[in-house]
Amino acid sequence: MYNITKDNSPYFVEFEHTGIEQIVEAVKALGIDMQVQPRVGFIHHPLQRVDAISMINLLPFADKIPINERRVSLFITRPGFYYRAHKDGLDHRVSINYGIDIRDDKCITSWYDDKDLVQYSIDTLGGYSREAVGFDKANHKPIHQMTAQQGKGVLLNTEIYHDFDNSESSEQRVLLTFRIKDAGEWYFEEVKSIIFS
Ligand SMILES: [Fe+2]
Repeated sequence: MYNITKDNSPYFVEFEHTGIEQIVEAVKALGIDMQVQPRVGFIHHPLQRVDAISMINLLPFADKIPINERRVSLFITRPGFYYRAHKDGLDHRVSINYGIDIRDDKCITSWYDDKDLVQYSIDTLGGYSREAVGFDKANHKPIHQMTAQQGKGVLLNTEIYHDFDNSESSEQRVLLTFRIKDAGEWYFEEVKSIIFS
């Protein structure tokens, strides 16, 4: 059922599966306005509960991993936008993303070593993230990188500092993202082994 196209653990696993095109089409059929205004860099658009549940029902691993129906979201990034290094949530260790509208190969996710970022204070954005305040990517060398791909799924390790950089792109990027219930209890290797076993 699965075809792992890249296993770059512990950073990410890129995959395809039967029915993956249906997920892309189902998102587009929701008719959500995906145009990002120039003054806005990034939109987090949570799906309505009924739509979130119908998306979860399209996932082949939905019966093995408890996906959070309150947090099925579109991440829409405008052309030219860069998002600083962070870890997801207060304790979210993985994210499962699908490339819904990615038109080039210029949207890059980079991971960074904890030891390299100790100088930064952390902003939780009120309890929703762990962001390296004033992060300057020019001063750091990534330990790993990934290019977002149209129509592919990605299991992403979000417990390692990472940024995403669409600054070289003239295209916007749309991802569908899933999180797991009781996120702090689920680690990358465990989720990987459950999905792909
Ligand atoms: Fe993230």
